[in-house]
This record gives sequence, C-alpha cells and structure tokens, in this order.
Amino acid sequence: RTVYVNGTYLPETEATVSIFDRAFLMADGVYEVTSVLGGKLIDFEGHLARLERSLSELDIRKPAVFDDLLEIHRELVKVNGIEDGLVYLQMTRGSDGDRDFAFPDPETTEPTVVLFTQSKPGLANSPQAEKGLKIISIDDIRWGRRDIKTVQLLYPSMGKMMAKRAGCDDAWLVEDGHVTEGTSNNAYIVKGGKIITRQLSNDILHGITRAAVLRFAKEAQMTVEERFFTVDEAKQADEAFVTSASAFVMPVVEIDGQSVGDGTPGPVAKRLREIYLEESL
Ligand code: PDD
Repeated sequence: RTVYVNGTYLPETEATVSIFDRAFLMADGVYEVTSVLGGKLIDFEGHLARLERSLSELDIRKPAVFDDLLEIHRELVKVNGIEDGLVYLQMTRGSDGDRDFAFPDPETTEPTVVLFTQSKPGLANSPQAEKGLKIISIDDIRWGRRDIKTVQLLYPSMGKMMAKRAGCDDAWLVEDGHVTEGTSNNAYIVKGGKIITRQLSNDILHGITRAAVLRFAKEAQMTVEERFFTVDEAKQADEAFVTSASAFVMPVVEIDGQSVGDGTPGPVAKRLREIYLEESL
C-alpha cells in the first residue's frame, strides 16, 4: 500500500512520524474518513469543510497542503486501486521535538499530515445491513467538544469492545438520560413515521452522512425531528439506525437485549440506505 506522509508518497513500511508528535503524546490531532464507492470519493467537500473547522477550533495551523487534499485523495485511491473502501486522513499539531503541555510555536512547527487507504470490497453490499446491528447503551464520559473530530478515540474504542464482549455490535452513548450518538456514528429512531435524531451541538459530531441523509429524507417528504431522545424511547421506537461515512445508513435491531420494532431492519432505514447509496454512486 502506498501512503502519504508530509508531502511524500511512499510504501507504508517506509512511512515515519516523530515519536514527539503531539498526536502520539497527547492525542493532539484531528482526522477525517471519506468513503470510496466504485472508485469515487463520497461527500468529499463536507469532510474537507469539517476538517477545516476542527483545525480552527483547536488552533492548529492549516497547512499549505490543504488545497491539494482532493488531489492526494484521488492519487491514493488510484495507486492503491481502491474500488470500495475509504481514505483516512489525519492532521496533527506536529511537534518541536519535545513534550510540553503548552502548544509549540505555530510559526516554527509544521502540522503532520498522514493519509492512507483501506480497501473494503463490497462495502455498499455489507451483509450487516441485512441483519442490522445489536447495540448496548453505555454512559457517555467523553470530553465536551465532540463536535471536533479529534483522534482521542480511547473511550469510543472501549465502548465498542464492551459491546463485542456482550455479544453485540456497537454501543450508543448516553448523557443526562439522552442518547448522544454511537461510538463512531450518529444515532436515530423512527416513531410514527417521524425520523428523530439529536440536534446538533458540541455534544455530538456533526456527521457529514447525517447532513446528507436528513437532506434526502426531507426531499422524500419524510418528517425529521431534531431533538433529544432517551434509550427507553429508542427501545419503544418502530425502528432505529445509525449513519457514518463507513456504514452509510445501518439499521439497529436490538438495544440492550430488547428488539426494536419486530427486530428486523425497518422500512425507513432500508429506504434511506437505498437513497443514500443511489445518490452517492
Ligand atoms: N466516525 N459520530 C462519531 C463519534 C463519529 O466518530 C462519526 C464518524 C460519526 C459520523 O460522522 P460522518 O457521517 O461524518 O462519518 C458520528 C468515522 C467514520 C470513524 O471514526 O471511522
């Protein structure tokens, strides 16, 4: 696999980053995941805009390479022959060769830029979409700026493992009685034909797939309600689902051992998945 590191395309085995990099020492970096279907990048502009915002919220200087990111994405997709899969991009504050809580001088510190691809053949036809996800609910103990897509992913990662150990697929995070989002996706329920998802704030990531799916839902005359919902409400809902760049629209069929609706993927989730994939391809 060819990867991109700080201006250079090279084999993954030759790619290196400083051990003092602040993303390595302090999770001081941000990332984006853009999916690839049929060799085409999905929602690239949205991911780029969110990346710019993440950098700005953390006072990480926007590197000059920012303007070439589309070209770099395309080049990696091409040289690695990615039909279906994703491009992972990470930008960090870099380092001045030491460990310090204070940020290094942005004038003399270059952000670190890393991109690589992951091939996922048949991504759009995942058997998981037919089965749906079983999820557990866990406390959301992440920091308060989940709108910034940082590489601080330890708790979401632990949540995913808690789910797996419980024989489930993923976890929904709950704060003050309300679902915030999934470990790596946005969360939705459907009740009486209405699509309900938490409103945007600093408490959740502003999903690029979320924005697209809500737009498509409204275009298809579906009703969307952006508001808080509880785990109990989700268990009593007709349907539930999640969205993300890597899962698109993925039905949820069980929450904390209780079936949602009849325990199979619901018609609204299925329809939205179809629309999303049709519009993206
Ligand atoms: N995760 N919420 C969280 C906490 C996420 O990590 C993600 C994405 C989303 C969905 O955002 P989008 O639709 O822009 O992908 C919501 C990516 C896919 C990941 O970490 O791999």
